[in-house]
Amino acid sequence: MRSPTPAKITVVGAGFVGMTCAQRAAEKGLAREVCLIDVLPGRPQGIALDLNQAAAIEGVSTRVVGTNEPSDTAGSDLVIVTAGRPRKPGMSRSDLLEVNGRVIVAVAEYVRELSPDAVVIVVTNPLDTMVHLMRAKLAFPARRVVGMAGVLDSARFSWFLAEATGASVLDVDAMVLGAHGDSMVPMPESCTVNGVAARDLLDEKTLSDLAARTRRGGAEIVELLGTGSAFYAPASGAVAMAASILRDERRLLPCACLLNGEYGFEGVYTGVPAILGSRGVERIVELPLSTEARIQMQKTVGAVEADIEALHGLGLL
Ligand code: 2OP
Repeated sequence: MRSPTPAKITVVGAGFVGMTCAQRAAEKGLAREVCLIDVLPGRPQGIALDLNQAAAIEGVSTRVVGTNEPSDTAGSDLVIVTAGRPRKPGMSRSDLLEVNGRVIVAVAEYVRELSPDAVVIVVTNPLDTMVHLMRAKLAFPARRVVGMAGVLDSARFSWFLAEATGASVLDVDAMVLGAHGDSMVPMPESCTVNGVAARDLLDEKTLSDLAARTRRGGAEIVELLGTGSAFYAPASGAVAMAASILRDERRLLPCACLLNGEYGFEGVYTGVPAILGSRGVERIVELPLSTEARIQMQKTVGAVEADIEALHGLGLL
Protein backbone atom coordinates (compact mmCIF):
# COMPACT_ATOMS: atom_id res chain seq x y z
CA MET A 1 0.00 0.00 0.00
CA ARG A 2 1.29 3.44 -0.98
CA SER A 3 0.93 6.06 1.80
CA PRO A 4 -1.41 8.84 0.79
CA THR A 5 -0.05 12.32 0.21
CA PRO A 6 -0.83 14.79 3.05
CA ALA A 7 -3.12 16.74 0.72
CA LYS A 8 -6.84 17.40 0.93
CA ILE A 9 -8.81 17.12 -2.29
CA THR A 10 -12.36 18.33 -2.74
CA VAL A 11 -14.46 16.88 -5.53
CA VAL A 12 -17.48 19.06 -6.29
CA GLY A 13 -20.41 17.10 -7.71
CA ALA A 14 -21.21 13.50 -6.81
CA GLY A 15 -22.53 12.47 -10.21
CA PHE A 16 -20.81 9.67 -12.11
CA VAL A 17 -17.72 11.74 -12.99
CA GLY A 18 -17.37 13.12 -9.46
CA MET A 19 -17.81 9.81 -7.69
CA THR A 20 -15.35 8.12 -10.03
CA CYS A 21 -12.83 10.93 -9.40
CA ALA A 22 -13.25 10.39 -5.65
CA GLN A 23 -12.73 6.64 -6.06
CA ARG A 24 -9.66 6.97 -8.28
CA ALA A 25 -8.09 9.71 -6.12
CA ALA A 26 -8.63 7.65 -2.95
CA GLU A 27 -7.39 4.40 -4.48
CA LYS A 28 -4.26 6.08 -5.82
CA GLY A 29 -3.55 7.59 -2.38
CA LEU A 30 -3.52 11.11 -3.80
CA ALA A 31 -4.77 12.67 -0.57
CA ARG A 32 -5.21 11.99 3.12
CA GLU A 33 -8.79 13.20 2.67
CA VAL A 34 -11.12 13.37 -0.30
CA CYS A 35 -14.14 15.56 0.41
CA LEU A 36 -17.04 14.83 -1.96
CA ILE A 37 -19.67 17.57 -1.96
CA ASP A 38 -23.02 17.70 -3.71
CA VAL A 39 -26.26 19.61 -3.22
CA LEU A 40 -28.30 16.37 -3.14
CA PRO A 41 -28.80 15.27 0.49
CA GLY A 42 -27.50 11.76 1.18
CA ARG A 43 -25.79 11.07 -2.13
CA PRO A 44 -22.22 12.19 -1.31
CA GLN A 45 -22.55 10.70 2.19
CA GLY A 46 -23.68 7.35 0.75
CA ILE A 47 -20.86 7.25 -1.82
CA ALA A 48 -18.30 8.20 0.85
CA LEU A 49 -19.49 5.44 3.17
CA ASP A 50 -19.36 2.89 0.35
CA LEU A 51 -15.82 3.99 -0.65
CA ASN A 52 -14.58 3.96 2.96
CA GLN A 53 -15.93 0.43 3.38
CA ALA A 54 -14.18 -0.64 0.17
CA ALA A 55 -10.93 0.80 1.57
CA ALA A 56 -10.29 -2.20 3.82
CA ILE A 57 -10.43 -4.52 0.81
CA GLU A 58 -8.53 -2.22 -1.56
CA GLY A 59 -5.80 -1.43 0.99
CA VAL A 60 -6.49 2.29 0.90
CA SER A 61 -6.03 4.67 3.84
CA THR A 62 -7.43 7.85 2.28
CA ARG A 63 -10.58 8.93 4.10
CA VAL A 64 -13.56 10.02 1.99
CA VAL A 65 -15.95 12.57 3.51
CA GLY A 66 -19.37 13.04 1.89
CA THR A 67 -21.12 16.33 2.57
CA ASN A 68 -23.63 18.97 1.51
CA GLU A 69 -21.82 21.68 3.51
CA PRO A 70 -19.28 23.93 1.77
CA SER A 71 -17.56 24.51 5.14
CA ASP A 72 -16.34 20.87 5.02
CA THR A 73 -14.28 21.70 1.91
CA ALA A 74 -12.16 24.31 3.76
CA GLY A 75 -8.40 24.14 3.36
CA SER A 76 -8.37 22.02 0.21
CA ASP A 77 -5.09 21.85 -1.71
CA LEU A 78 -6.83 20.80 -4.89
CA VAL A 79 -10.44 21.08 -6.05
CA ILE A 80 -11.92 19.09 -8.94
CA VAL A 81 -15.17 20.63 -10.15
CA THR A 82 -17.50 18.20 -11.90
CA ALA A 83 -20.86 19.68 -10.81
CA GLY A 84 -23.40 20.52 -13.48
CA ARG A 85 -25.68 18.84 -15.95
CA PRO A 86 -24.41 16.38 -18.55
CA ARG A 87 -25.58 16.54 -22.15
CA LYS A 88 -28.64 14.70 -23.45
CA PRO A 89 -28.51 13.06 -26.88
CA GLY A 90 -28.61 15.77 -29.58
CA MET A 91 -27.38 18.55 -27.27
CA SER A 92 -24.09 20.38 -27.77
CA ARG A 93 -21.90 21.18 -24.77
CA SER A 94 -22.71 24.88 -25.31
CA ASP A 95 -26.39 24.16 -24.62
CA LEU A 96 -25.35 23.80 -20.96
CA LEU A 97 -23.90 27.31 -20.73
CA GLU A 98 -26.51 28.96 -18.52
CA VAL A 99 -27.42 26.11 -16.20
CA ASN A 100 -23.83 25.06 -15.56
CA GLY A 101 -22.57 28.66 -15.51
CA ARG A 102 -24.77 29.30 -12.46
CA VAL A 103 -23.30 26.22 -10.75
CA ILE A 104 -19.74 27.44 -11.39
CA VAL A 105 -20.51 30.87 -9.94
CA ALA A 106 -21.89 29.28 -6.75
CA VAL A 107 -18.92 26.90 -6.38
CA ALA A 108 -16.36 29.66 -7.02
CA GLU A 109 -17.83 31.67 -4.17
CA TYR A 110 -16.98 29.10 -1.49
CA VAL A 111 -13.73 27.85 -3.04
CA ARG A 112 -12.35 31.41 -3.11
CA GLU A 113 -13.24 31.97 0.51
CA LEU A 114 -12.45 28.56 2.03
CA SER A 115 -9.60 27.19 -0.12
CA PRO A 116 -7.74 30.31 -1.28
CA ASP A 117 -4.50 28.42 -2.03
CA ALA A 118 -6.04 25.54 -3.99
CA VAL A 119 -5.31 24.51 -7.53
CA VAL A 120 -8.68 24.11 -9.27
CA ILE A 121 -9.35 21.63 -12.08
CA VAL A 122 -12.64 22.25 -13.90
CA VAL A 123 -14.39 19.37 -15.67
CA THR A 124 -17.89 20.89 -16.07
CA ASN A 125 -19.06 21.59 -19.64
CA PRO A 126 -18.86 23.58 -21.81
CA LEU A 127 -15.35 23.07 -20.50
CA ASP A 128 -13.26 25.94 -21.83
CA THR A 129 -15.96 28.52 -21.06
CA MET A 130 -16.63 27.13 -17.59
CA VAL A 131 -12.94 27.24 -16.67
CA HIS A 132 -12.78 30.83 -17.97
CA LEU A 133 -15.78 31.72 -15.77
CA MET A 134 -14.27 29.92 -12.77
CA ARG A 135 -11.01 31.84 -13.10
CA ALA A 136 -12.86 35.15 -13.44
CA LYS A 137 -14.89 34.49 -10.29
CA LEU A 138 -12.00 33.08 -8.23
CA ALA A 139 -9.51 35.75 -9.27
CA PHE A 140 -6.73 33.18 -8.58
CA PRO A 141 -3.52 33.27 -10.64
CA ALA A 142 -4.24 31.59 -13.98
CA ARG A 143 -1.67 28.86 -13.29
CA ARG A 144 -3.97 27.60 -10.49
CA VAL A 145 -7.15 27.29 -12.59
CA VAL A 146 -7.03 24.73 -15.35
CA GLY A 147 -9.51 22.66 -17.36
CA MET A 148 -9.61 18.93 -18.01
CA ALA A 149 -10.36 17.90 -21.54
CA GLY A 150 -7.24 17.48 -23.64
CA VAL A 151 -6.19 14.45 -21.59
CA LEU A 152 -9.60 12.90 -22.28
CA ASP A 153 -9.73 13.80 -25.98
CA SER A 154 -6.16 12.58 -26.49
CA ALA A 155 -6.95 9.32 -24.67
CA ARG A 156 -9.89 8.78 -26.99
CA PHE A 157 -7.69 9.41 -30.02
CA SER A 158 -5.10 7.02 -28.55
CA TRP A 159 -7.66 4.25 -28.19
CA PHE A 160 -8.88 4.66 -31.77
CA LEU A 161 -5.26 4.61 -33.00
CA ALA A 162 -4.52 1.49 -30.96
CA GLU A 163 -7.53 -0.28 -32.45
CA ALA A 164 -6.63 0.76 -36.01
CA THR A 165 -2.93 -0.13 -35.79
CA GLY A 166 -3.39 -3.26 -33.68
CA ALA A 167 -0.75 -1.87 -31.27
CA SER A 168 -1.09 -1.67 -27.50
CA VAL A 169 -2.72 1.53 -26.29
CA LEU A 170 0.22 1.75 -23.86
CA ASP A 171 2.51 2.54 -26.76
CA VAL A 172 0.27 5.16 -28.38
CA ASP A 173 0.82 8.87 -27.76
CA ALA A 174 -1.81 11.15 -29.22
CA MET A 175 -2.32 14.89 -28.95
CA VAL A 176 -5.52 16.93 -29.23
CA LEU A 177 -5.45 20.72 -28.92
CA GLY A 178 -8.19 23.34 -28.77
CA ALA A 179 -11.58 23.51 -27.11
CA HIS A 180 -13.41 20.48 -25.76
CA GLY A 181 -16.13 20.58 -28.43
CA ASP A 182 -16.78 19.90 -32.10
CA SER A 183 -14.04 22.39 -32.98
CA MET A 184 -11.25 20.53 -31.11
CA VAL A 185 -8.00 20.04 -33.03
CA PRO A 186 -6.69 16.45 -33.15
CA MET A 187 -3.03 16.47 -34.24
CA PRO A 188 -2.36 13.33 -36.33
CA GLU A 189 1.09 14.73 -37.13
CA SER A 190 2.03 14.49 -33.42
CA CYS A 191 0.74 10.94 -32.87
CA THR A 192 3.25 8.14 -32.40
CA VAL A 193 3.30 4.44 -31.56
CA ASN A 194 6.40 3.95 -29.41
CA GLY A 195 8.27 6.58 -31.41
CA VAL A 196 6.96 5.49 -34.83
CA ALA A 197 4.89 8.20 -36.51
CA ALA A 198 1.22 7.18 -36.82
CA ARG A 199 1.48 8.49 -40.39
CA ASP A 200 3.94 5.66 -41.16
CA LEU A 201 1.42 3.08 -39.94
CA LEU A 202 -1.93 4.37 -41.22
CA ASP A 203 -3.04 6.11 -44.42
CA GLU A 204 -4.23 9.74 -44.34
CA LYS A 205 -7.91 8.80 -44.85
CA THR A 206 -7.88 6.45 -41.86
CA LEU A 207 -6.12 9.06 -39.71
CA SER A 208 -8.60 11.73 -40.70
CA ASP A 209 -11.57 9.39 -39.96
CA LEU A 210 -10.12 8.65 -36.51
CA ALA A 211 -9.64 12.38 -35.89
CA ALA A 212 -13.30 12.95 -36.83
CA ARG A 213 -14.41 10.14 -34.50
CA THR A 214 -12.34 11.74 -31.71
CA ARG A 215 -14.16 15.05 -32.24
CA ARG A 216 -17.46 13.21 -31.70
CA GLY A 217 -15.99 11.00 -28.96
CA GLY A 218 -18.22 12.37 -26.18
CA ALA A 219 -21.37 12.44 -28.33
CA GLU A 220 -20.85 8.81 -29.39
CA ILE A 221 -20.97 7.74 -25.74
CA VAL A 222 -23.94 10.03 -24.94
CA GLU A 223 -25.88 8.37 -27.77
CA LEU A 224 -24.93 4.85 -26.67
CA LEU A 225 -25.80 5.44 -23.01
CA GLY A 226 -29.11 7.19 -23.74
CA THR A 227 -28.94 8.88 -20.32
CA GLY A 228 -25.82 10.64 -19.04
CA SER A 229 -22.39 10.90 -20.55
CA ALA A 230 -18.94 9.34 -20.27
CA PHE A 231 -17.44 9.18 -16.81
CA TYR A 232 -14.59 6.66 -16.54
CA ALA A 233 -12.24 8.38 -18.97
CA PRO A 234 -13.18 11.95 -17.88
CA ALA A 235 -12.44 10.97 -14.26
CA SER A 236 -9.15 9.33 -15.31
CA GLY A 237 -8.18 12.57 -17.05
CA ALA A 238 -8.94 14.78 -14.05
CA VAL A 239 -7.18 12.44 -11.62
CA ALA A 240 -4.07 12.18 -13.85
CA MET A 241 -3.85 15.99 -13.74
CA ALA A 242 -4.41 15.99 -9.96
CA ALA A 243 -1.63 13.42 -9.51
CA SER A 244 0.80 15.44 -11.59
CA ILE A 245 0.06 18.52 -9.46
CA LEU A 246 -0.04 16.92 -5.99
CA ARG A 247 2.99 14.70 -6.54
CA ASP A 248 4.80 17.38 -8.58
CA GLU A 249 5.22 14.81 -11.36
CA ARG A 250 5.52 17.54 -14.01
CA ARG A 251 3.77 15.50 -16.66
CA LEU A 252 3.19 17.15 -20.01
CA LEU A 253 -0.58 16.90 -20.47
CA PRO A 254 -2.91 18.71 -22.85
CA CYS A 255 -5.31 20.81 -20.78
CA ALA A 256 -7.28 24.05 -20.95
CA CYS A 257 -4.97 26.90 -19.93
CA LEU A 258 -5.32 30.67 -20.06
CA LEU A 259 -3.26 31.78 -23.03
CA ASN A 260 -1.11 34.86 -22.68
CA GLY A 261 0.21 35.24 -26.21
CA GLU A 262 0.97 31.54 -26.72
CA TYR A 263 -0.23 30.27 -30.11
CA GLY A 264 -1.05 33.91 -30.90
CA PHE A 265 -4.02 34.18 -28.49
CA GLU A 266 -4.52 36.38 -25.46
CA GLY A 267 -6.88 36.12 -22.49
CA VAL A 268 -8.75 33.00 -23.58
CA TYR A 269 -8.76 29.44 -22.26
CA THR A 270 -8.18 26.64 -24.70
CA GLY A 271 -6.53 23.21 -24.79
CA VAL A 272 -2.72 23.24 -25.15
CA PRO A 273 0.08 20.99 -23.90
CA ALA A 274 1.21 22.06 -20.44
CA ILE A 275 3.57 20.83 -17.76
CA LEU A 276 1.63 20.38 -14.53
CA GLY A 277 3.44 20.54 -11.20
CA SER A 278 2.92 21.65 -7.62
CA ARG A 279 2.15 25.25 -8.61
CA GLY A 280 -0.39 24.16 -11.23
CA VAL A 281 0.49 25.07 -14.82
CA GLU A 282 4.30 25.27 -14.70
CA ARG A 283 4.75 25.88 -18.39
CA ILE A 284 2.66 26.05 -21.57
CA VAL A 285 4.36 24.24 -24.42
CA GLU A 286 4.07 25.65 -27.94
CA LEU A 287 4.05 23.11 -30.76
CA PRO A 288 4.89 24.13 -34.32
CA LEU A 289 1.55 24.14 -36.17
CA SER A 290 0.82 23.44 -39.83
CA THR A 291 -1.22 26.07 -41.69
CA GLU A 292 -4.25 23.77 -41.47
CA ALA A 293 -3.85 23.32 -37.68
CA ARG A 294 -3.40 27.08 -37.27
CA ILE A 295 -6.71 27.72 -39.08
CA GLN A 296 -8.40 25.10 -36.88
CA MET A 297 -6.98 26.77 -33.73
CA GLN A 298 -8.48 30.12 -34.88
CA LYS A 299 -11.87 28.42 -35.26
CA THR A 300 -11.74 26.63 -31.91
CA VAL A 301 -10.74 29.81 -30.04
CA GLY A 302 -13.50 31.66 -31.92
CA ALA A 303 -16.01 29.10 -30.60
CA VAL A 304 -14.85 29.65 -26.98
CA GLU A 305 -15.00 33.43 -27.46
CA ALA A 306 -18.59 33.15 -28.74
CA ASP A 307 -19.58 31.21 -25.60
CA ILE A 308 -17.83 33.80 -23.40
CA GLU A 309 -19.84 36.52 -25.17
CA ALA A 310 -22.99 34.53 -24.40
CA LEU A 311 -21.99 34.40 -20.70
CA HIS A 312 -21.76 38.19 -20.72
CA GLY A 313 -25.22 38.29 -22.29
CA LEU A 314 -26.55 36.09 -19.48
CA GLY A 315 -25.03 38.42 -16.87
CA LEU A 316 -22.77 35.65 -15.53
CA LEU A 317 -19.53 37.45 -16.36
C1 2OP B 1 -17.18 13.99 -22.72
O1 2OP B 1 -16.61 14.39 -23.73
C2 2OP B 1 -18.24 14.58 -20.56
O2 2OP B 1 -17.62 16.23 -22.15
C3 2OP B 1 -17.36 14.99 -21.61
O3 2OP B 1 -17.52 12.82 -22.56
